[in-house]
Amino acid sequence: MMSKTIGILTGGGDCPGLNSVIYGVLLKAADAGYKVIGIEKGWKGFLEGTIRELDVEKLDDLHTVGGTLLYTSRTNPYKQAKNIQESVKREKAIKETAEKMASQIEKLGLDALIAIGGDDTLGVASAMYKYAGAKVIGVPKTIDNDLSSTDYTFGFWSAIQLASNTMDNITTTARSHQRIFIVEVMGRDAGWLTLVSGISTGADIILIPEKPFDLQNDIVNILRDRIDSGRKYHIIACSEGAIPTKKSFERDFTTISQKDIEKLPRDDFGNPILSKLNMSKVLVKELNTKEELRKYFNDNDVEYDIREVTLGHTMRAGTPSSFDRILGLRLGVQAIKLILKENYGQMACLNGTEILSVPLSEGAQKKLVPKDSDLIEVADLITKVKCGKA
Ligand code: F6P
Repeated sequence: MMSKTIGILTGGGDCPGLNSVIYGVLLKAADAGYKVIGIEKGWKGFLEGTIRELDVEKLDDLHTVGGTLLYTSRTNPYKQAKNIQESVKREKAIKETAEKMASQIEKLGLDALIAIGGDDTLGVASAMYKYAGAKVIGVPKTIDNDLSSTDYTFGFWSAIQLASNTMDNITTTARSHQRIFIVEVMGRDAGWLTLVSGISTGADIILIPEKPFDLQNDIVNILRDRIDSGRKYHIIACSEGAIPTKKSFERDFTTISQKDIEKLPRDDFGNPILSKLNMSKVLVKELNTKEELRKYFNDNDVEYDIREVTLGHTMRAGTPSSFDRILGLRLGVQAIKLILKENYGQMACLNGTEILSVPLSEGAQKKLVPKDSDLIEVADLITKVKCGKA
């Protein structure tokens, strides 16, 4: 068997289980007689050549540790090329960038590269393979669970547990003060995190980006119904990317407009930075303008006191769950197996209980919550029953 030198990098937001994948890679690489070179800070370090050898002997139990020992960044090597307006020129620039990236693999003395990341990071790897035949393997990472071709991304269930713990706990203080709590959950334009953590904790209203909400019908009226049915505190799980319908935006909102959302700053990959919007805060402000609802609460001897909690990066913090440790290890081992078979341009994935692989071009695609998801049905049933409308 020929010895190889494998590069490994982690890109995008950090996520519990990154170190588990790295450890899986190291375990199998050691077994195969491969050397592993860690590239620091994702594509940034790849371009700058910030590398160091990883020694599995010195990293016992790395899979149990949260975060990434390789650091991470959101650097997009294709940023300039993608901004070119004219399509032929843009395509040419993307191809040239991909070729430059592929040649960097050799310059760094690597035989193959493992890129661990979400749709942005894997999109970069996918283009390297598509345009320049680069020897790359992808591993799907993100707490958001928004990647197609894998049943779950690692990090998702750790984040669910963290979000669920907070949402469970918030009910005691909500009950004590008779408050409405709006809990903002990460996930960008995908509602998986909010939907699953919201259902698991019995959130009274769940707002996700895939199903734009109507402030009057989906929040104000439900809160009234909950008061009618004797409920005195309320938990709203709100995705950071939840948005009102166009109609509701125009009719119900007084503190922000569509333009404010369009004007949001964006990261290197063009994703709006949703923490700058803080939808839960917007909802608190809007609900505070609803004087009729306040009166309705007060007439029923219930406080009208609305608070928001933004879970933010606490959702990605700490150690990975056992599920994510195992999933990470298995995906890492699979990445080396794909290299052993010289099956490049693939993404390791979870399919049912099996670890398989799919072409990177498929794996790097987004997976949003389908409109007909049974999870949406469960969430709606919970809301309906818990406002006395069963
Ligand atoms: O993609 C993972 C994620 O945690 C999203 O849910 C969130 O919108 C984003 O990263 C936050 O990014 P940053 O860590 O750069 O603030």
